[in-house]
Amino acid sequence: MGNNRREEGDTVLGQVKSVIGIDMGTSAVKAVEMSLEGGSPVLTGFGHVDVRPGEGQEVALRELLASGSFQSKRASMGVGGQSTVVRYLEMVRMSDAELRQAIPFELQSHLPFEVDEVTYDCQALELKSSPGQENSEGGKELDTMTVLLAACRKDLIEERLRWVQQEGLTPVAVNLDLFALGNAWELAGPAPLLTHEGEGADAPSEQDQRTTHNERAVALIDVGAGRTSINVLLAGETCFSREIPLGGMDMTQAIARRLSVEANDAEALKRESGGPSAEVEAAMLPVIEDLAAELSLSIDYVEHHRGIHVAELLISGGGLLVPGAVQHLERAVGRPARIWSPLEGLRINAERVDLEDLEDKASSLVVALGLAGKVAA
Ligand SMILES: Nc1ncnc2c1ncn2[C@@H]1O[C@H](COP(=O)(O)OP(=O)(O)OP(=O)(O)O)[C@@H](O)[C@H]1O
Ligand SMILES: [Mg+2]
Repeated sequence: MGNNRREEGDTVLGQVKSVIGIDMGTSAVKAVEMSLEGGSPVLTGFGHVDVRPGEGQEVALRELLASGSFQSKRASMGVGGQSTVVRYLEMVRMSDAELRQAIPFELQSHLPFEVDEVTYDCQALELKSSPGQENSEGGKELDTMTVLLAACRKDLIEERLRWVQQEGLTPVAVNLDLFALGNAWELAGPAPLLTHEGEGADAPSEQDQRTTHNERAVALIDVGAGRTSINVLLAGETCFSREIPLGGMDMTQAIARRLSVEANDAEALKRESGGPSAEVEAAMLPVIEDLAAELSLSIDYVEHHRGIHVAELLISGGGLLVPGAVQHLERAVGRPARIWSPLEGLRINAERVDLEDLEDKASSLVVALGLAGKVAA
């Protein structure tokens, strides 16, 4: 496991010629194959198979891999949800070797599981420490660093490894979905929204004017079926991440309740071409507002804690594809928000993929792309 720093992502594509990043979503299994062609990474395959009601993700994975869309036999797997834990710890500055010795003593207090039930990794971030880390006399600031701690229950990892091995693939990496988002952004993230006069649409906010370019952060937000992941990047490095147990499925359930229809029908109403009816929209709105409230809490926390400004929300996943949903979220959070496609900054082998279908699915493939690795410069 690792975060979105360059060395971590490179290990996947750096060691092998091609790899399939597999995002085991609760409503759809997604995969992206990246290959090194002439020394640089190219998207050479992708797939998206819905998890049908009553069937497991394993069945969707089998169907996906049997589709003939992939040539690689190597898989990079994602994990997330309640079996995973991410913490940003403030620790006294120390070497990597000292950190590896210290972490086992820290670990249990941060886990809702027993230590021997998890696989974990840790890494000192390059972030400057949070302001206000003072010594016990309230005197001068301590020399501290922020340590990223990520852990995942071994049984989840073992299950995922078993599934891909059963399909004849060799697992080469496991990463948290949260960090895969950061990897995808580093590989193919859009240019920042320009907010200064003459450069873009909006005049600089008061907060923009107070912060330097480096302190402007971007929040990557993947809205899935059952959960929403947020990873705030400052100068490309994660400084906050969290999962919120809300997503597109909650919208579908809200529609089903309000209109007294079955979940399948509610899902169809949500996706109706031409956009949702006013009634469907009204049913979904409270869910979007709840999500916006959770995201605002996280953004306020990281801004206060790190002294940064989250200038933009970049949305991926399927959960907010309903026409108008992003605009509702944008208004409720009070920050610019847009759905991003990772295809813009990416080389694509047009002989091996259906470009129209790829474009259609692009924002749902962000996590799978991040799992497949990013470019060595
Ligand atoms: N075109 C669309 N219009 C509206 N909603 C959509 C559309 N496509 C997908 N969704 C919704 O997006 C959700 C699935 O998105 P996604 O594939 O990102 O989730 P997932 O990765 O399977 O779930 P999770 O990340 O929670 O495990 C579902 O709730 C679905 O209803
Ligand atoms: Mg997902």
